[in-house]
Amino acid sequence: MELKNQRWSDEEFLQERQKVLSLWPTGREIELTEAVDYLRALPPEKNYALKVVKARKEGRTLIQPRGGVALIEDHIELLKCLQDHGGADLLPTTTDTYTRNLRFQDAQRGIEESLLAGRSMLNGFPLANHGLKAARRVSESVRRPIIVLSGTAFPQLVAEMGFAGGLTAFLGAGISYTAAYTKDLPFEQGIKNYQYVDRLASFYHEKGIRLHREQPGFLTGTLIPPGIGIAVAVLEMLMAAGQGVKHYSMGLCQGLDLIQDVAALRALEEVGRDYLIRLGYGDVFFSIATHQWMQAFPVDEPRAYAVIALGGVIAALAGATQVITKSTHEAEGIPTKEANAAGVKATRMAVQLMRSNRLPECPEVLQEQKIIIRESRSILDKALEMGEGDPVLGAIRSLQAGILDIPWAPNRHVAGKVIPVRDASGAVRYLEHANLPLPPEILEYHRDKIRERERRGGQKVDYEAAIYDITEVSKMLEG
Ligand code: 5AD
Repeated sequence: MELKNQRWSDEEFLQERQKVLSLWPTGREIELTEAVDYLRALPPEKNYALKVVKARKEGRTLIQPRGGVALIEDHIELLKCLQDHGGADLLPTTTDTYTRNLRFQDAQRGIEESLLAGRSMLNGFPLANHGLKAARRVSESVRRPIIVLSGTAFPQLVAEMGFAGGLTAFLGAGISYTAAYTKDLPFEQGIKNYQYVDRLASFYHEKGIRLHREQPGFLTGTLIPPGIGIAVAVLEMLMAAGQGVKHYSMGLCQGLDLIQDVAALRALEEVGRDYLIRLGYGDVFFSIATHQWMQAFPVDEPRAYAVIALGGVIAALAGATQVITKSTHEAEGIPTKEANAAGVKATRMAVQLMRSNRLPECPEVLQEQKIIIRESRSILDKALEMGEGDPVLGAIRSLQAGILDIPWAPNRHVAGKVIPVRDASGAVRYLEHANLPLPPEILEYHRDKIRERERRGGQKVDYEAAIYDITEVSKMLEG
């Protein structure tokens, strides 16, 4: 089957499905007709897609933490804590690293070791290993919708297990997760793997079950210039739409520059709508999500809370429908459930303090928004041109040529020549734009902003400055 942005036929999908379900014995527990009946009977408040649609209509920002532990009962306890003590609107099920890499044998060992140790020996919930009944038990133990968070380029089996288990949303996409979570995997393969997930979601949709697909947006999490983040997000949404997905959200990671972050989220919405309509997918619902700081976090609580609270402020002032939270344990690893819930609570407080206020459309925001829109359109138009109008082919070809590039990505198929750096106000600029097809006046704008940092700081802004910027937030106020 040639890879392009075309909906897989039922035969193609069902044939591939045999392979997916045979990856681990629990795959045999999943039966689509039975799962459709199960999902149909799910109370509407457990449906992620419906909750997001409603929040967007009401202009509310939903708070969405991450989280997962090895054992079923502990995982349920974690989710209840996030729900009851944190007040999370949307609940997570983050899978462990073995599951993400299809190492189910090792995940099984992790479960057994966790039982022996009496605590989680995995960095997430091994959803495929625990199987369908466990997934449903988790889902039935809480009152909020659950999203599966599996940072993987091999999502098919966990997506099957999650959806059939009543977890009504799935995070991840083919460009983002291939770039960020694999070293050698060709984009063709990662994209195809996510076409499967999207096609699975649309299979359910055709049976009247609304499932939500979420695009991660944070890429490598390291000062991603918004123009790049938006180009990737929109391409991934178009690919999902191509498989028949109707409920989607796109995200961006925060750079912690209030003006640029808000401008970027607004630009994402505008560009997303524009290209959906242009490619004939105007009936797709989408919302905007913002990820709290994805780079190195400060170690101590007060500084970490400042980063988290600013993240809530950015989400609220941008009018984002979802904010994905962090905790004060971020610098150390997996948070305790209490710390995780506290991060949710702090974010909720920040959002509520903003009431229904939005950042006014001042010249600075509008200017930044205009620049970001031009950037993302330049990349998207060139990518689509290279793909002869097809976003799948366009993504693959533009990545290969470095026309689409992602800073600091571990995957060797990414050109990796773009180097981001902050300007004097903290906004993300291009120190090197490499092969990104950006118009001269946009490049001049970035250069101007970098020169301003040089003037104010009295220092050259070079590669060393770019490296410094990666850990700067974690080190602020130190020493
Ligand atoms: N529990 C809570 N948060 C997690 N993350 C990853 N795994 C877990 C987990 N099991 C979060 C971390 C990480 C981000 C990608 O996801 O904050 O930085």
